Order: sequence, then structure tokens, then C-alpha cells
Amino acid sequence: MDKIGNSTRSVHVSADPDKNTGSVQMPIYQTSTYVQEDFGIHKGYEYARTHNPTRALVESAIAELESPDTAAYGTSFASGMAAISTITQMLEAGSHIIAASDLYGGTARLFDQILNKFGVETTYSQLKEGDVEKCAKENTKMLWLESPTNPLLEVHDIEKLSNIAHKNGWVVVVDNTFASPMLQRPLEQGADIVVHSTTKYIAGHSDLIGGCVVTRDEELDKQLKFLQNALGAVPSPMDCFLTLRSIRTLAIRVERHCDNAEKLVEKLSQHPKVTRLIYPGLKTHNGHDIANKQMRRYGGMISIEVVGGERGARKFAAASKLFATAESLGGVESLINHPWSMTHAAIPQERREEIGITPGLVRLSVGIEDFEDLWKDIENALKII
Ligand SMILES: Cc1ncc(COP(=O)(O)O)c(C=O)c1O
Repeated sequence: MDKIGNSTRSVHVSADPDKNTGSVQMPIYQTSTYVQEDFGIHKGYEYARTHNPTRALVESAIAELESPDTAAYGTSFASGMAAISTITQMLEAGSHIIAASDLYGGTARLFDQILNKFGVETTYSQLKEGDVEKCAKENTKMLWLESPTNPLLEVHDIEKLSNIAHKNGWVVVVDNTFASPMLQRPLEQGADIVVHSTTKYIAGHSDLIGGCVVTRDEELDKQLKFLQNALGAVPSPMDCFLTLRSIRTLAIRVERHCDNAEKLVEKLSQHPKVTRLIYPGLKTHNGHDIANKQMRRYGGMISIEVVGGERGARKFAAASKLFATAESLGGVESLINHPWSMTHAAIPQERREEIGITPGLVRLSVGIEDFEDLWKDIENALKII
């Protein structure tokens, strides 16, 4: 496609009028298998774990969103964790991963409680200047990071880290769930693999669980497609259809998430009951300059601490009417999460404390509601603490 904007791309990559009927939208190919004219003579579709047209459009759409100017390949999965665990199956036993220290709890759980059983070891690092090389081992094969991270919204310099990794021959994986391809395209910064929990911004309506992986590297894609079929954690055609439907509004949704989050940060920054405010758009954020370099805007996620520690956080969450307390993020509705007891409870307590996931920390996923209503709700909840 020629150079086009994010909104145009979102609308057009997710539609492929049906050749048989002219149906404007991709049909839901709800089938497990395909008729063959003769043994082995078919239209390219044999069995739906291996190929499905509705799924194929999701894969090409997300690949194009992540890499509009250079050919890229997508592989989709039944969840973000299915996508993440499938990537790790490319590693041989005895491999070593260097991972950012505040990864999503489920990713850390996979690394520490499952991959370790198969002889794949992980070293966690803050990935600051000079840190990465110190973690390197002879058997290091992969550098794994999120940016912005979940839930502390740390911003890692994808270009710099990719350069270090490539000098050492490691594959760089970036979980781009928090930014979405509307705000950040890690493959353009040098990453080899991008992974998403499409459950979040890409599907965006809190009504499905999904995952996707994108790479520009044909060899990596071949391995991923082999593993997708061999391990079998594929998404349903219905979820693929819903994902396509969501992609059409991804650009405008993300703009609105960012608008609301930026306005909310401004208000929160002046509120006496907010004792810690984390948002990459703040000039005081330690990753602000890197965010300016690699992100288009700063996203819809904010983390805060309020007065009163964990008790204060509980009161705040209970008092809010529009921000429901729930796991997940990136949906049209605003949500509050308590990482300490919810999403990040799987991380050992000392590590949570060491990296700053405190009992008083609250993560806000700012939705697309009217800002005035969101602020009224938050202001009222802060009053009640
Ligand atoms: C950054 C990030 N990556 C991956 C996942 C896992 O995705 P899923 O819940 O779709 O398996 C999550 C889930 O919260 C996440 O926040």
C-alpha cells in the first residue's frame, strides 16, 4: 500500500471482500476441515489448525500495521500467553534468556516455572546502560522486553537494545501490547519479533482472548508457523472475525485512549492525594526522551499510588463507579487493576518489592468514555480515601 495514515490502514488491512459473494467483510470460516478434489488436491486449505482464511486475514492485517513499509508475516494465537509460549519453543534446551525485570506476571511465570523445567534459564535485568552485557552468557539466545512495561510503564530503548543484541547474535522479542502498533512499531527500531496480547488494544472490547506474533524474518516466520501448527494454540474463526472488526477502529480508539489519559495525568499531577504518578508522557518520567524517540504518543495506561498505601488503593478502587476493578486493559471501558494482588501476584514478593510493584500501586486503563465523566469519577474516588 502507498503511504497512508493509521486510520486508513486500520480500516483497509482488515477487510478483504469475499471472492465468491462480494461480501464486503471477511466471512467467518467456521470449519474444521476442507473438501479435497482428489487425494492431496485442494485449494490450499487442508485442516483448520493449519490454515483458516479468517485467521489469515488477522495475521496479514496485524503484520501490515506493525510493518507498513516492509514485508512482514503474522501468526495468530488463542491468547497472548499462547503466542509468548510458542515463541519460546524456538529455543533449544540449555538456552538462556535476558528479560526485562518488570514483565507481565504471566510471562515471568512461564519463564520461571515452566521453561526452567526444560533447561531454559532467564536472567532479569533493568536493561539500563551497561546492564545487558553483564547478564550475557555463552548460551544467551534471546532478549525479551516490553515497552512500556506492565505495570510500571518503564520505557526501554528498543533501537539501542536491539543493536547490542544483534552484535551478540540474540533474537530480540518486544511485547508491544501496551503501545499497540498505532503508537510504536518495534520492528522499525530493530526488533526481530513483536508479540501482542490482542486481548487488549487490538481487540479492544474486552470480549475475547487472543495473541499475535509478527516478524520480518522469513526463517523465524517459518519456525513460528511450524510451531503454531505443531503446538496448536490457534484462535477460533469467530474470535478472528471479532479481531478484524476491532482493527477497523483501532486507530481512532487509541487516539481517544491517549487523549483521555493525557488529560487525566494533568489533573492527577496536581492532586494532593496522588503520591506517585507514572506516565511516559511526563517530562519527569525517566524514559520520556526515549518515548519521544520511539513512540507516537504515550498510551492509555497510567500507574499511580495514592495516600494510605494499600488501604488507600482499596478505598479508591471501591469508590470509583466508572473504572471497574478488573484484570486486563486496552478495552473501551476504563479499568482499575491492583498489580500486587492481581496481575502480578505470580511474581515472588521480593522481586515485586525490588522493582517497585508496591501494595499501594494502582494501574489505570483509561477507556474512551467522555473525559469529564472519568475525571468526576476519579476526583470523587480520591475524595473518599
Ligand atoms: C503485556 C502483556 N503481555 C501478554 C499478556 C498475556 O496475554 P493474554 O492474557 O491474552 O494471554 C498480557 C496480559 O495481561 C499483558 O499485559
